[in-house]
Amino acid sequence: MKKQALEQNTGDAAKTGRPLMEEIRRLKRKVARLEKAEMERGRAEAARRESEEKYRTLIESTGDLIFIVNEKGIYTYVNPQFERATGYSVRDLIGQPFTFLVAPEHIESTIRRFRKGIRGEYTLPYDAHLVHRNGEKIPVEFLVTTQYDATGRAVGRFGIGRDITERKRAEEILRQQSRQLRILSARLTEAEESERKRIARELHDQVGQNLTVVGINLSIVRSKLPAEEMKMLRARLEDSMVLVEEITEFTRGLMSDLRPPDMDILGLVASIGWFAERFSMRTGVDVVVEGEEIQPRPNPDVENNVFRIAQEVLNNVAKHARARRVGIRIEACDAILRVVITDDGIGFDPSRVRRMEEQGGWGIMTMTERAESIGGRFVLESEPGKGTCVTLEVPL
Ligand SMILES: Nc1ncnc2c1ncn2[C@@H]1O[C@H](COP(=O)(O)OP(=O)(O)O)[C@@H](O)[C@H]1O
Ligand SMILES: [Mg+2]
Repeated sequence: MKKQALEQNTGDAAKTGRPLMEEIRRLKRKVARLEKAEMERGRAEAARRESEEKYRTLIESTGDLIFIVNEKGIYTYVNPQFERATGYSVRDLIGQPFTFLVAPEHIESTIRRFRKGIRGEYTLPYDAHLVHRNGEKIPVEFLVTTQYDATGRAVGRFGIGRDITERKRAEEILRQQSRQLRILSARLTEAEESERKRIARELHDQVGQNLTVVGINLSIVRSKLPAEEMKMLRARLEDSMVLVEEITEFTRGLMSDLRPPDMDILGLVASIGWFAERFSMRTGVDVVVEGEEIQPRPNPDVENNVFRIAQEVLNNVAKHARARRVGIRIEACDAILRVVITDDGIGFDPSRVRRMEEQGGWGIMTMTERAESIGGRFVLESEPGKGTCVTLEVPL
């Protein structure tokens, strides 16, 4: 009975003995192969699910706005971040055109960019405002790329948007602060200028004139003193007269440092020449000034600022450069007034000065401000061991 069944099972091929064993082995191998393939498929499926999960978590937990629009500009995917940023649910947005969220003033440019992208052209990252459900505008930085199907046809756009409210706010604060700093620094320059004038006037009116009177009085005393008293007091008297003269000289020097010479009469080049000469006498540094008086005369504001800048450049040479020689070239060419001042001193690394400004080196900053206040620019070039060259250019 058993044998019969077996014979029936093996069918008409009537396989028995060795061929049957062969067949069983073949089937076993096949089953093993199938099992292995099935296992691999399972593993691949698990890996795919895991990786999908990973990307979903990434896309859904990022702070950025991630979206896909089809070739008609309709949202087919938006990540949950949209809900937080715009107040609309993911369901509200899917099926809407992307312009639904864009602020009116940016719709046209955004559509233009979308069409360009769909045509296969590259589009740069850009900023645009989205409108929150509550009407508030949100500045967003977008990076959008076109998606293609296997045949190379554009099927939509994939984008990442980043809420840059904080960045914009920080930028605005920075802009305001630097505007305030500029105003402050201009005021400071102005205040310095008027304070200098005031001190010079006081020196002239009070100290200078009183010194003159003291000098005259001393001469009178000297001429009127009887001979025997004169003997006793002569040395003191003469000493005092010399002191008065020295103080007068010193005050005069101080005054002319404080107040530019009468530029109206002298002209800019001569005024710089006059200051350079005094500077040379005071410091022993050789200064050569080249250039003709500028015709027609620049306006007084330009002349005054250029003079002050030249003065500060020379003061820096005296303070820091250890130079032997300074060259100043002043020329007007193509409606640009150019002043170039070079020294052969020790030089320095200008990139280090920016940090020092915080500690007080106001000179370079003030010169830059002065140049900008008359529409010009101030450029300082220097290198340790190579001297310093300052170029000032002002449109006339
Ligand atoms: N001609 C120069 N030669 C060498 N160093 C200079 C020269 N001019 C400026 N510096 C450097 O730049 C710094 C900043 O100059 P400045 O802003 O005028 O400030 P301050 O003169 O008050 O130090 C100086 O402290 C000095 O180190
Ligand atoms: Mg200085």
